[in-house]
Formats: sequence, structure tokens, C-alpha cells
Amino acid sequence: MSNNPVKNLLDIKDLVIPQGDDLVQAILDLKKEKNAVILAHYYQPAEIQDIADFLGDSLQLARQAKDTDADMIAFCGVHFMAEAAKILNPTKKVVLPDMEAGCSLADGCSGEGLRAMRAQHPDALVATYINCNAETKAESDIIVTSSNAETIINALPADRPIIFAPDKNLGRYLSKKTGREMILWDGSCIVHEAFSMERIAKQLAEHPEAKLIAHPESEEPVLELAHFIGSTSALLNFVEKDEATQFIIATEEGILHEMQKRAPHKTLIPALVFDESCNCSECFFMKRNTLEKLYLCMKYELPEITIDEDLRLKALAPIEKMLELSQSIK
Ligand code: 13P
Ligand code: SF4
Repeated sequence: MSNNPVKNLLDIKDLVIPQGDDLVQAILDLKKEKNAVILAHYYQPAEIQDIADFLGDSLQLARQAKDTDADMIAFCGVHFMAEAAKILNPTKKVVLPDMEAGCSLADGCSGEGLRAMRAQHPDALVATYINCNAETKAESDIIVTSSNAETIINALPADRPIIFAPDKNLGRYLSKKTGREMILWDGSCIVHEAFSMERIAKQLAEHPEAKLIAHPESEEPVLELAHFIGSTSALLNFVEKDEATQFIIATEEGILHEMQKRAPHKTLIPALVFDESCNCSECFFMKRNTLEKLYLCMKYELPEITIDEDLRLKALAPIEKMLELSQSIK
């Protein structure tokens, strides 16, 4: 993560922050004044999703960031996503409401570690999930997101082994789907690994009409129970289009906000996690962003994502390859 000393401006006590409807209006005013665009991931708090210019999964947000002609991108997501926006569009100012909006996958995989893994398997291609930092991207041959991973893995030369980092659950799922052998980095998402197969099985028994849908970052026993497995966008589309009226959702709970808007008459039930006493199906990192912090980062243009130009160019190459190979994916 960044060494930027300003983690979020809410920590500076004397700053005046409008409240309630005034806060929303102040953000909209700043957007105009600064020619800014607000990009938000589906896992953001509902009030941030509602104020965003574009709401999307990580692939859609990367594309928006690349193509925007706004002067400032206020990125409401986690650090690796905002950093990817800066890599793709370096002349724009990219601000993130809270610099400590990290990710267990990104924080657990260093460029150095991936380089060492590659040294042990010199003939392998390195395919890395976009949930990683710029140093890790720079060590990769190609980046994938959950919505384009299968297409991209299938497009890689069949005679080369694949190192897949940092999510072992997504990697195992992709290996099964594509039949490609993979050497997996030992990382996982703290949200998706928290789902409990036993408790979900009970939920299914209590709601016999319901379909279980799961993100492939979930662990294998949960995926084995699922009626449908897909990326954030694929899960949204499935709920909207499928004939079932009840769904148990094994992914980050923030998605329910948009899902319910798209399928207002369907019943959406968050899948249960191991620990009954925690909100583990909410990504603690994603929820570090708040409307107050969004207002402050737009007003004071801090914390800002910055990146060394050599590193940016190295990290850009595998992202561009990804964008090229995933043009057919919405
Ligand atoms: P998407 O690629 O589906 O947006 O997922 C991002 C993420 O962080 C999943 O946990
Ligand atoms: Fe990272 Fe998991 Fe949070 Fe997504 S949900 S940002 S993978 S910790």
C-alpha cells in the first residue's frame, strides 16, 4: 500500500463537514467545480453507490477510469482499484476517500514474492488477479478480473504452465473450469473465505425454493453447493434474469443494494458466515469509505494516488493485455 502520510482527512479534527442532505449537495457541487467523476464499486456503502456517476465491478471501473475525460477521479473502492485507475489514466488526479481501504489479497502478495515464485517456475506464465498492488502487477504477464478470468486463461498458450496469484480459491476454480494446470499463490479473500458451508446448507434447507449463488473467491465446499458461480456482474445479471424468486447470496453484502434495485420483487438472503457474531460478509476495507471522507477527499484533493512512472509503465503492460483480450466481455 501507499506510503502517503495522509490516510484520510476525517482524522484531521477541525475540518468542517456539511451534514445530511447538505453533504450530498456539497459533493455534487464539488463534482461540478472540479470536473470530477465518482466511480464506485458494488461493494461500497449504499449511500456512496447512490451518488456515483458509474457503479461497476473491477473490470468496468478500470474501463471507465481509462476513458474518462474528467480532471479528477474520486475512486470509491479499495486501494488497488484506485491505483489501477491511476496506472491507466496518469494525467488525471485520482483520490481515494481512505488510503487504508486495502484488500487481504492485495496486501498478502508482494512483487518480490511473485518474482521468487516465477524464478522457481521459469517456463510459467504469470496470470495475476487485479486484486494486487502495482509492484505485483509489474511482475505479471497478464492481469485478470473475476469477469474475464476464464476467457483470458483459455487464451493463454496451452504449452505453458500458469502461475496464478494471489487468490487460491479463484485459481482452483479456474483450473477446474479451463482444465489448465496452475501453480497457486496461497492467498484468499477474508470476506469470501468466511462463508460457512454447514450454515449455508441449513439456509438452503430452510428455503427450498432458493438458489445459492456464489463468487468464485469463495471456498470449494461453498462453490460445490452453489447453483450458479460468477463474478460480481455475472451474479447481478443472474438474479435479474433467472426465473427463481429467492436467492442466497455468497458474496460481499454491498451487492444486495444494486441487486434489489434490479430485481425489486425477488427475495435476497445473505449467505451465513462461520462466526455468528461478526459482519464478516461485509468487506471491512470497502466500508472504510464514507460520504464524509468522499467529501473531504474531493474538497482537499487528498489522499491522492501517486505512482512512480517506471513502475506505472511496467504495471500498465499486463493490464493493457487484459483489456485487449476481454473486449467481448461487458
Ligand atoms: P469484481 O472483480 O467482481 O469486481 O470483484 C472484486 C472484489 O474485490 C471481489 O471480492
Ligand atoms: Fe479484497 Fe475481499 Fe474486500 Fe474484495 S471483498 S476488496 S477481495 S478483501
